Amino acid sequence: MNYRTLGRTNWEVSEIGYGMWGMGGWTGSDDTNSMEALQLAVDLGCNFFDTAWAYGEGRSEALLGQLVRDNPGKKLYTATKIPPKNFKWPSKRSYALGDCFPPGHVEEYVHKSLKNSGLESFDLIQLHTWEDQWLADDGWITKLQELKEQGLINAIGISLNRWEPWNGVKAVKSGWVDVVQVIYNIFDQNPKDELLPACREHGVGVIARVPFDEGSLTGTLTKDSTWPEGDWRNTYFVPENLHSSVEHADALKPLVPGGMTMAEMALRFILGEPTISTIIPGMRKLKHVRSNISASDAGPLDDPLMDSLAKHRWDRAPTEWSQ
Ligand SMILES: NC(=O)c1ccc[n+]([C@@H]2O[C@H](COP(=O)([O-])OP(=O)(O)OC[C@H]3O[C@@H](n4cnc5c(N)ncnc54)[C@H](OP(=O)(O)O)[C@@H]3O)[C@@H](O)[C@H]2O)c1
Repeated sequence: MNYRTLGRTNWEVSEIGYGMWGMGGWTGSDDTNSMEALQLAVDLGCNFFDTAWAYGEGRSEALLGQLVRDNPGKKLYTATKIPPKNFKWPSKRSYALGDCFPPGHVEEYVHKSLKNSGLESFDLIQLHTWEDQWLADDGWITKLQELKEQGLINAIGISLNRWEPWNGVKAVKSGWVDVVQVIYNIFDQNPKDELLPACREHGVGVIARVPFDEGSLTGTLTKDSTWPEGDWRNTYFVPENLHSSVEHADALKPLVPGGMTMAEMALRFILGEPTISTIIPGMRKLKHVRSNISASDAGPLDDPLMDSLAKHRWDRAPTEWSQ
């Protein structure tokens, strides 16, 4: 495993971090299996873990707390997220800051997350939705800074809405946030336009989430894929999205080098972007943990393949189902 500095936090985080949404709420999750997968990741050098109150209303946070207690000698970076008070994802331009992150709500959920996890502090607290227009009111950041002074959190971040990397550029430039979390993958390359240059200039750390586009970039979905009732992916991969995602993924298949999986290619493509410090694939299966972590040692793809994949950028606009 290789490590990169996460912006101005100066933390040395593993290039492959861990996304803990699936184990908190997707169907088929089992806490014993999840703990095994998490421990394997730690044993293989992963030291950055991303969770949220919303991932099973604390279920995923509890797993992270257990993992930290199980590994007393190791520094594991813990990141969680405060849900918006209206519990609506994604946020919309019409939502006021007071609908989503009033100071009392921010404080309440930092304490809830600490209780769920049994941890004394979190390394990184992120707002789970974001609107750049919220910078006009400093109530949320004043509260977070107060919680930082109390030693309950160490760094402050925001998680940007799907397909809206532009809607965080002002926050990066404001100097108020230490870290941004954004979707970046073979399809979603648009953070390169404005967000990543701003992060470089202002020393803001970048976490790349959803490296597999929720699964299509593993190359394993078909136009007939379905998930058990109640699984969130049924609401994201509606036919309109599933069909076009599978078509876009199929167009990549001829580019996957012999001996490599599409998932490996997807991660190594992201490793080619130096502004990104850690990639957080969601992974519950041990074989996925092993193969995803080995992508770090394999390193970024060669330049010709990077150039070919850059052409598969797919700019999408948020819709009713994109969430
Ligand atoms: N608004 C936000 O802040 C927000 C939104 C979405 C996600 N996130 C964060 O980003 C993380 C990653 O996103 P995600 O989990 O939604 O999606 P993702 O990482 O794009 O995809 C996860 C899926 O890929 C599968 N997978 C993982 N490694 C694989 C491999 N090597 N080969 C084949 N399949 C593989 C996983 O299967 P198994 O689970 O069965 O192993 C899972 O079904 C989340 O866990 C969460 O921490 C944040």
